[in-house]
Amino acid sequence: MLQGASILLIIGGGIAAYKTLELIRELKKRGCSVRVILTKAGHQFVTPLSIAALSGEKVFDDLFSLTDEVEMGHIQLSRSADLVVVAPATADLMAKMATGQASDLATTALLATDKRVLIAPAMNVRMWQHPATQRNLATLTGDGVAVVGPNAGDMACGEFGPGRMAEPLEIVAAIDALLAGPPAMPAAAALAGRHVLVTSGPTHEPIDPIRYLANRSSGKQGHAIAAAARRAGARVTLISGPVTIPDPAGVETIHVETAQQMLDAVERALPADIAIFAAAVADWRVAAASGEKIKKSGGRTPALALTENPDILATVARHATLRPALVVGFAAETEHLVEHARAKLAAKGCDLIVANDVSLTGSGITGGVMGADRNAVHLVSASGVTSWPTLGKDEVAARLVQHLAGLGAQWA
Ligand code: CTP
Repeated sequence: MLQGASILLIIGGGIAAYKTLELIRELKKRGCSVRVILTKAGHQFVTPLSIAALSGEKVFDDLFSLTDEVEMGHIQLSRSADLVVVAPATADLMAKMATGQASDLATTALLATDKRVLIAPAMNVRMWQHPATQRNLATLTGDGVAVVGPNAGDMACGEFGPGRMAEPLEIVAAIDALLAGPPAMPAAAALAGRHVLVTSGPTHEPIDPIRYLANRSSGKQGHAIAAAARRAGARVTLISGPVTIPDPAGVETIHVETAQQMLDAVERALPADIAIFAAAVADWRVAAASGEKIKKSGGRTPALALTENPDILATVARHATLRPALVVGFAAETEHLVEHARAKLAAKGCDLIVANDVSLTGSGITGGVMGADRNAVHLVSASGVTSWPTLGKDEVAARLVQHLAGLGAQWA
């Protein structure tokens, strides 16, 4: 609910800072009050005067200003807001946040806040893709920070790729979703003492030593769930197919390639209290993968005979002795979502299906929800259907973990 919400906006030092003026206008239009902290670097891109004119509030920019501290201390500044938004979240600001620095007013307020934090990263594509930034991002999402963007496109520096700050209206939508949802950080003890097993990513099924069958799963949703379960105090085992995202902090991550290896690792990791199967397991593997590279020979096209992979979710849900108390599956559907999810619930013997409405995200032959950052899901169980709005994958993860923790009576 944006009307009447109070936003603390921290403007970092990036070229995208100019877009925050539009963001302030859009938020004000929707009845929010906006207080702004402008970092030292942010001063290079926007002026306190234009911010004050648009926000109708004094701009805060110096940790050690006695007048500011008397009027409103930095702790109070960070707590009086309903939500803290960092835009643009530069690589530097993200690094400082991830390491808990408190070197200026912005970082001090971020460390002192007890409210949800949303970051809108913006930086050069190489800086965004650098393992250090991706590590910091994983730490931040693991800490419950929500993320909007960055988008891919032409960049001010002349390069192309992900790194452009989300558009003001996208940030407004993310703020709206966060204000509407439950607090992201489930009570730290909600899953304390529980063992949560999560599968994530694709599987790679070898054709020969250098080729394989795979799918486009990025692992973002499964990894976000593992991180959220960890935040809720669980011991988490994540069994991941090949992905390019980092292992979540504090989570035991086992890397596998094939469906069979994933099943073996899952069985070894049992017993668990909750098992969440977010991996996009290849349904088939090549019946007889070649030990040697298959060579072109006389224009003949090799025929690949396929055989079905074990269904990991169904195997665990039907485990005679070690079935976890809660078994959760995922389903990607483009039509008849609820009927298909109900059928899957019964066919696989699980307690809950998280159904992805992939038709809403423009799933074409080249992608769609796979690899994207947002997800529209419906929770389908024997007791009914709960639909959530389109949310960031970390928000889906936080809500799912909260939901499962709330089902505690079933597995206490
Ligand atoms: N799953 C699994 N092992 C497999 C196949 C799927 O554990 N060999 C799990 C997935 O992790 C997911 C759910 O089962 O939780 C998805 O089931 P699936 O039958 O593959 O459904 P869809 O991917 O939605 O595809 P389809 O509707 O075509 O069956």
